[in-house]
Amino acid sequence: MIPADLSQRAEDLRREIRFHNYRYHVLDDPVVSDAEYDALVRELRALEMDQPELVTPDSPTQRVGAEPLGRFEKVTHPVPMLSLGNAFDEVELRAWRDRILRLLPEGAPEPAYVAEPKIDGLAVSLRYEAGQFVQGATRGNGLVGEDITVNLRTVKSIPLRIPAAGDAAPPAFIEVRGEVYMRLAAFEALNQRQAEASDKLFANPRNAAAGSVRQLDSSITAGRPLSFFAYFMRGAEEAGIASQWAALQYLKGLGFPVNNDARRFTDFEAVVAYCDEWMARRDTLSYEADGMVVKVDDFATQDELGTISHDPRWAIALKFPAREATTRLLDVGINVGRTGVLTPYAILEPVNIGGVTVSRATLHNEEDIHRKDIRIGDMVVIKRAGDVIPQVVKPIEDLRTGQEREFHMPGTCPDCGEPVSKSPEEVATYCVNASCPARLVQSIAHFAGRGSMDIEGMGKRQAQLFVDWGLLHDVADLYALKTEDLLEREGYGEKRVSNLLAAIEESKQRPLARLVSGLGIRHVGVTVARLLVQRYPAIDVLTAATVEELQTIEGLGPRIAASVTEFFASESNRRVIDKLRIAGVRMSEEPPAGEARPAPLAGLTFVITGTLPTLSRQDATAFIQAHGGKVTGSVSQKTAYLVVGADPGGTKYTKAQALGIPILDEARLRALIGAPVQEAPNDKGQLLLRL
Ligand code: IVH
Repeated sequence: MIPADLSQRAEDLRREIRFHNYRYHVLDDPVVSDAEYDALVRELRALEMDQPELVTPDSPTQRVGAEPLGRFEKVTHPVPMLSLGNAFDEVELRAWRDRILRLLPEGAPEPAYVAEPKIDGLAVSLRYEAGQFVQGATRGNGLVGEDITVNLRTVKSIPLRIPAAGDAAPPAFIEVRGEVYMRLAAFEALNQRQAEASDKLFANPRNAAAGSVRQLDSSITAGRPLSFFAYFMRGAEEAGIASQWAALQYLKGLGFPVNNDARRFTDFEAVVAYCDEWMARRDTLSYEADGMVVKVDDFATQDELGTISHDPRWAIALKFPAREATTRLLDVGINVGRTGVLTPYAILEPVNIGGVTVSRATLHNEEDIHRKDIRIGDMVVIKRAGDVIPQVVKPIEDLRTGQEREFHMPGTCPDCGEPVSKSPEEVATYCVNASCPARLVQSIAHFAGRGSMDIEGMGKRQAQLFVDWGLLHDVADLYALKTEDLLEREGYGEKRVSNLLAAIEESKQRPLARLVSGLGIRHVGVTVARLLVQRYPAIDVLTAATVEELQTIEGLGPRIAASVTEFFASESNRRVIDKLRIAGVRMSEEPPAGEARPAPLAGLTFVITGTLPTLSRQDATAFIQAHGGKVTGSVSQKTAYLVVGADPGGTKYTKAQALGIPILDEARLRALIGAPVQEAPNDKGQLLLRL
């Protein structure tokens, strides 16, 4: 019998690891450091080792990594791309060597070893046929990665043909594996540029490299300062190569960057000493290294030792210890991430850790803060791990004065004030408001992205610009963009503007599933969106679906169902959907032949104030009613829009503003019904309306 608390702990660990796996491998946006994550996995491994009955087929220890995002072409690795087991100190490194010696035949001599810095970047595979670079792929889950050939072609240290120098005959085929990474100086400079452009900052060089290499637009990759180190090759037998060391020399000869700090040793004590030396010198490296990799040199011996699950027995990563210091936790701030995750961070009395002044540190999530019993005002241990973001390890309880305060997540988003959501199965708290300013740029880019409305020319960079220019406040504002909003802005000539507006216009006809996926509902990607639309072929029926109904869809669990209903329950999300509808975006699968299209203003309540340029109050009312809308005399929560003309009445206007109700002029009112409003400047340069 397994004690219930142990199986509960294993369950909790699996859930947490799965979540962090997803953040790290799929989103490239981890919320914990590698060291923290490693600790969770080690704990789970230890538990499962003690109690093998606890191992479930879906345990994170039973698979290599997360699924690829599925937006690049998939590449199956003919030989899996392995990962490495970890050793956290010299004792564990020695234990690894003892195991090897036990596994080798009695009396076999001590093997030679190669020790290399473990570069913190992204593992890639490069295939060369007859000397030509033909395919580059990410590691993905180790078995299947993504084809990122075009992106890797932009990395200058990756040779496009080999040998890079001289005209020796190339090998018929080789596959080179190595790490794409970013040098520290390049990383700092990139973040500086990102900050100036108000773009998202990368947490560490690893994320910067991974995010850059996995851009769908390879011209963005080209602008990123990426480097590459080769550390492994396939096709060695054909080249007559029998060891790691010989492979490194061969790769160097072909023109691949190979780490100059790799060394071969015949004496294990020298391996340990070399690792120690590096640990002391790690701060002098021009790149981020999170440890040393020690490999058995000889390929024949490697084969003899083989592989257990996804880690080779013949290699190990000796992780560098994190650097720590003690300081006071002054307060807890909240960051709203691109997916709406609220992440608490520590505001610290500045402290020097390994030459770097630290005044902020991550706190991961509320659960973690409570688990570690970290309180505001505590003296805390701060760790700067192998990555750049420091973290709070633990409080020093002995130094408490009694003045310390517990932290609680706010019930509303600090950026938009909407209520936040926290489902019981997840550790994270989310802001579900798709138009939350903190999430806006990301949600617009997602909405316009390939899996969704596929608006050519509307990427993250443009989303950021348009938001900065005050043109977009939610995704629906895309459909209100006009030529004069953009023309003569930097980079926006006539051609570019008209192409963009045409692309936006064209996107109105995308299938409903694309729209649903574009809304950015948590856990709803293209696949889930299709399932939803199959059952609910119009947005109005989908928005009315209950959690219970949704769960009856095959392939949809309670988590997704809850997230869907929560999304549509949000007032501001519903407002965005109304705006999209009014803009003429397709809201259902094609209506059956002969069925009338719904009136565009159906279900919307309007209030009119002031004198409109061409319509009298009566005409405007009739106009709205003719298109299915309602007109009332005063502004309330139920008001969808306030239509404003010259000299508006004070209270209606201020009340609408206070309630965040969208305000329309006559031109926008006409645009709502999707009627072709022609606008042309008169001889005074003013815009006149003709219907
Ligand atoms: S060897 C079977 N050598 O570490 C050997 N890996 O945790 C596989 N890495 O996926 C890898 N520097 O991304 C090797 N000098 C090095 C490395 C290295 C960094 C990364 C690589 C791998 C991960 C394993």
